[in-house]
Parts: sequence; structure tokens; C-alpha cells
Amino acid sequence: MPNQLSIGIAGVTGYAGQELLKLAARHPLVEVTAAMASGATDGGRTLPALATIWDGEITPLAVDRLAADTEAAFMALPEPVAAEVGPALVARGVRVFDLSGTFRLRDPERRRRWYPTTPDLDDPPVYGLTEHYRTELRTAQLVACPGCYPTAALLALRPLVDAALLEGEVIIDAKSGISGAGKKPTERTHFSECHGSVSAYGVLAHRHGAEIEQELAQTVTFTPHLVPLDRGILETIYVRTRTDVNEAQVADTLRQAYVDAPFVRLTGSALPEIKQVTHSNFCDIGWVFDESSRRLILVACLDNLIKGAAGQALQNLNVAFGWDETAGLK
Ligand SMILES: NC(=O)c1ccc[n+]([C@@H]2O[C@H](COP(=O)([O-])OP(=O)(O)OC[C@H]3O[C@@H](n4cnc5c(N)ncnc54)[C@H](OP(=O)(O)O)[C@@H]3O)[C@@H](O)[C@H]2O)c1
Repeated sequence: MPNQLSIGIAGVTGYAGQELLKLAARHPLVEVTAAMASGATDGGRTLPALATIWDGEITPLAVDRLAADTEAAFMALPEPVAAEVGPALVARGVRVFDLSGTFRLRDPERRRRWYPTTPDLDDPPVYGLTEHYRTELRTAQLVACPGCYPTAALLALRPLVDAALLEGEVIIDAKSGISGAGKKPTERTHFSECHGSVSAYGVLAHRHGAEIEQELAQTVTFTPHLVPLDRGILETIYVRTRTDVNEAQVADTLRQAYVDAPFVRLTGSALPEIKQVTHSNFCDIGWVFDESSRRLILVACLDNLIKGAAGQALQNLNVAFGWDETAGLK
């Protein structure tokens, strides 16, 4: 079809990359002209889940070819690979949407701690939390799409923090399905470890905590848990409001923030559940507020592979190219 944007996906055989390809193959304004993986396996690579949806060829990652064949590229790659490929693509004029954490942290010290292979860049990347960075996305060359946990936490908290309605500690109790760890099983993530169990991990030591703190400009206590689901994230967030804040202010602040946000659904006191958002680009946010004790409990959930990864990346592409934000995502 004429006037379609040529896009590439690097890391197309991974969990996030496959979701992206599935969405992009149905997007009315893009054509996938490069789909690349590591090249670790000899011979043709096929994606059975994509049969009849996309029948292109998967080739080993090659930056020059990716740059030559595409106007925009998604990187669904391990961090050290994205750290090398991202700047090389930008230097060749390709607009890049990175799903990894490589370019998310602005503070050099924090970046060195969590993403030691990330190079210093002359032009800072845009943090791609779509609903809060639409203006910056329009001209971005390199978009650092947020992590799955931070997307849910920030969509719930950012309007309340910006409106200065909160005070005191922020506690985020987060639960994620196993696909959040990617397709390569480890001792922690393979079936017999996860099935029938729930475990906390990365306590006070998870890189997504740094990302949430960056975007809220305050310390948070973030505790992720692995739950025996294939996909989905649910976060229960504990905060207190300032003394003069009432229920209507909380609701109005969230409603105003997302009045033009097609993928944020506010559910009020009907708290959202993972089943209601999986396989969609929605982030659902509900809350219960006890005015007398000023305790506000927010519950946010999304599909880690879609709104937490591929869907949000595509939403960012839509905004960056001035299209309907929902194109390919409805
Ligand atoms: N999973 C999630 O929920 C999620 C959410 C948000 C962000 N992310 C981020 O998105 C990125 C991809 O995550 P994922 O879960 O999709 O990972 P994954 O399932 O492990 O897939 C990784 C992809 O990268 C390719 N790859 C690995 N090493 C490579 C190399 N040296 N050169 C070129 N390609 C290479 C793999 O190709 P082969 O098939 O050839 O190995 C595969 O296509 C990660 O940075 C992750 O942090 C993931």
C-alpha cells in the first residue's frame, strides 16, 4: 500500500517483539520491512503464532540493513545490544523506539548502576510514557519506552504527584506474570519453580524502582512479585494524601489527566483485575480513599507485553508520526 511507513523490529522472535509484529502487521499505516533476531539459530526462523498474519522473512540483526530498509525501528533487544544498535540507527536518520531499559534513566550515576553498557548521548532520549510526553514524542529521534512496572505505577501516581495531593511514603506492591522476564527460562522463572508459588524478588534493588523514582522525583518503596500467570501486571499502591484533600479532588485529578487518553480506563472503586486488560493496550486504574485516615489505595493493571511493552511502543510511534494514537491498537 502506498504511503505506508517502513518499520523494522529488532528482537522480533522475543516475547515483546512477537507482540509488536502481531500489532504492526495489522496497523493500517505501517509496513514491516525488516524483522530481525539474533541469528543464533541456523536456517529460516518462523513464528507459528504469526502464521497467516505475517509471512515475511526473519533475518539476523544487521544495523546497516535495518537502517537502509526502515524509517522507524523498534528495539526489543537485551540492554547491551540496544545500547550499541540504538545510537547507530539514530546516526543513520532512523527514528528509534527502544523497549529495553537502556536509555530510560537520565541521571548518569543511576544509569551506570543499572545499565552499565549505555553510552552517553548528545541528545537526550524522550521517556515514552505516552500519556505524559505527547509533545516531546512528536520530535523524538530516540524514544525510551518505559518498563512494564513503571508504566502502571506512573499512570496511577503521576497526576496525583503533579497536583501535589500526596505526602509521605509511596509503597508499590507489584505482581507480574512470568513473561515479564523474557523467553529464556531461568531457575527462577521456569514452570516448575513458578507454578503454584508466589515470590518477592529484587526487594529494594530493582531497576524499575529507579525509573519510577526518576519520573515522580521522589523515593518510592517498590516490591515486585512473580505470580504464576503467563502475562499481566497488577500493582497495589499505598499512599496518603495531604490533610485538605477530599475524594472528589482525587477523582477529578485522575479524570482530568486522562480525559483524552484512550488507553487509560479509570474504574473508580470497582477495582481492576488482570483478566480485564490482558491482550489489550489498556491500563486500568481504580482506587479506594478513606478521607478520615487519608489513606488512598490505588490499583493499576495492564498487560506487560502490550501496554507495558509492544502496545505502548506502537502508541508512541503513532504520536511521533502525528497519527491517531489508537491506530493499530483498537
Ligand atoms: N517481557 C516483557 O514483559 C517486557 C516488557 C517491557 C520491556 N521489555 C524489554 O524488551 C526487551 C525484550 O524483552 P523480551 O521479554 O521480548 O525478551 P526475549 O523474549 O528474551 O527476546 C529477546 C529478543 O532479542 C533477540 N536477541 C537476543 N540477543 C541478541 C543479540 N545478541 N543480537 C540480536 N538479537 C538478540 C532474541 O533473538 P533470538 O530469538 O535469536 O534469541 C529475541 O528476539 C528487553 O530489553 C526487556 O527488558 C520486556
